[in-house]
Amino acid sequence: MKRRIAIFASGGGSNAEAIINHFKSSDHIEIALIVSNKKSAYVLERAQNHKIAAHVIHKKEFYNSYDLLDILQSHHIDYIVLAGFLLLIPNYLIQAYPDRIINIHPALLPKYGGKGMYGHHVHQAVFDNFEKESGITIHLVNDKYDEGEILFQSKVELGLTDTPDIIAKKVLSLEHTHYPKVIEQAVLESFDQ
Ligand code: GAR
Repeated sequence: MKRRIAIFASGGGSNAEAIINHFKSSDHIEIALIVSNKKSAYVLERAQNHKIAAHVIHKKEFYNSYDLLDILQSHHIDYIVLAGFLLLIPNYLIQAYPDRIINIHPALLPKYGGKGMYGHHVHQAVFDNFEKESGITIHLVNDKYDEGEILFQSKVELGLTDTPDIIAKKVLSLEHTHYPKVIEQAVLESFDQ
């Protein structure tokens, strides 16, 4: 039986696309659901293009009800992957999926993490601090922003003339290369025990 993954994303979903494509021919893992907190998010179109079920969750419902848990259970979801999902994960989800929620952060944690550090804000801060390198961190999710156990990091060198946009491109390319493979390993290991 294939393990069923839900991807949570708030925006464009280029990582979601890379993950979907990676698992298209997998015998072990299937992307079964896309969840977004933004009804205009382009990731929802990607879901439609790939004929993957999608659900939009409103912030109030996300924090004040267990509706999403019912939805995840009705789709028999085994594992949750955050890919540019900007809301803090509530405790009821962490308890329902212990060590089975994974996130990617576009910097080398513990630097440039925490509340408000997402997307372009991260790359701007890296630029402002004249960092010589940046990278990605893939980690398990707990109840604090960007603080769960780190599973994988990868670095990229930054040039003196790299703007925040160039840094973002370099980092995103690392994300697309590594995130699907790290997810695959984490999911398979998680159900091996
Ligand atoms: C990615 O760079 C991801 O690491 C980042 O948002 C971007 C989403 O891009 N996530 C965070 O900043 C979370 N703190 P995408 O929608 O094209 O995958």
